[in-house]
Amino acid sequence: MAILVTGGTGYIGSHTIVELLNEGYDVVIVDNLSNSKIEVLHKIKQITKKDFKFYEVDILCREALEEIFKKNSIEAVIHFASLKSVGESVAKPLMYYNNNIVGTLVLCEVMNRYNVKKMVFSSSATVYKGSDSPLTEDSELGATNPYGNTKLMIEQILRDIYMSNNSWGITLLRYFNPVGAHESGLIGEDSVDTPNNLMPYITQVAIGKRKQLNIFGDDYNTYDGTGIRDYVHVVDIAKGHLKALDEILNKNQCEVYNLGTGKGYSVLDIIYQFTESTGIDIPYTVCNRRPGDVAICYADSTSAYEKLGWKSERNLDDMCRDSWKWQVLNPFGY
Ligand code: NAD
Ligand code: UD1
Repeated sequence: MAILVTGGTGYIGSHTIVELLNEGYDVVIVDNLSNSKIEVLHKIKQITKKDFKFYEVDILCREALEEIFKKNSIEAVIHFASLKSVGESVAKPLMYYNNNIVGTLVLCEVMNRYNVKKMVFSSSATVYKGSDSPLTEDSELGATNPYGNTKLMIEQILRDIYMSNNSWGITLLRYFNPVGAHESGLIGEDSVDTPNNLMPYITQVAIGKRKQLNIFGDDYNTYDGTGIRDYVHVVDIAKGHLKALDEILNKNQCEVYNLGTGKGYSVLDIIYQFTESTGIDIPYTVCNRRPGDVAICYADSTSAYEKLGWKSERNLDDMCRDSWKWQVLNPFGY
């Protein structure tokens, strides 16, 4: 029996596949390579020395997806495949609703047809309305952009599927801010365009690709005025999927868990830690706030600890060092 991983050549998917293979799972990957490169497959093999199947398929293509379910004995699905840029989703909402929501509907219909009823879904801290951190799974929900709306809507769809037939086992994982890379430096976040997120922007400044970091506002109501987030190592996030999988393989349920460290760090904290961890200074300038940003967002991940036995193990130093190692070994990405 195999685990089907949609979006498996992407950033979090590739790290999760390494953990799955290391734990002895059979893995089948589906990705349309819209935001990832085929080269990652060789890197995964290099790290794990294990084999797996890969299909270059769009999850919107029902026939191709059905073929995969016919040819492979799938036990559960980890569903990463999604478009994820907030700004792009505001400009192209139809593309986001179609890819993320219709893609998930097609996937769920095919799963249902082939009697595969176990799914771990990639949700996000972006589904929380406010910044009354620490955020628990019961904090108020509400997204402010089409990307966030797709995550909220898919969560609701998956809950409804479980309500209609509780032989499903579904886990919604709300990631906070995944950063870092595999300790080998062979896989990481492949930012080809200008990165939207803080850590890849910092590593590009450090390697000289960009002149300086623009800090989006230093007038927030925080201890140094810059935004506070819950950065969590991507390998810890990947390991969270194996815990979630373990749970649903043994239990029918629809549960939701925050995956974060429970600690918030400011933009300036990250800059100082990066310099401390790598010896490289990060020039920066302060500019206007980015629309849609909240001041403070960090997780209460007690539930993931108590029910899944998951907690983050890597600290900010690991996150900075591993992000930097990936950048240095792959200055042009994959
Ligand atoms: P990513 O873009 O690196 O990976 C997503 C993968 O899905 C890509 O390889 C892309 O080619 C593939 N894909 C997209 N649409 C597809 C389709 N229709 N059919 C087949 N493949 C398709 O993103 P990531 O950072 O690895 O994120 C993985 C998941 O986690 C996403 O659902 C994302 O929304 C969610 N998430 C990410 C973050 C983050 O900061 N990275 C935070 C919270 C949630
Ligand atoms: C962003 C997304 C969010 C997504 C999350 C994790 C937006 C508005 N939100 O949130 O939907 O779930 O990533 O992938 O895009 N910062 C700078 N300069 C930069 C980049 C960021 O100062 O060049 C600051 C931001 O203002 C923020 C912090 O750094 O305070 C972290 O930013 P980022 O990495 O983009 O994550 P989020 O803001 O949490």
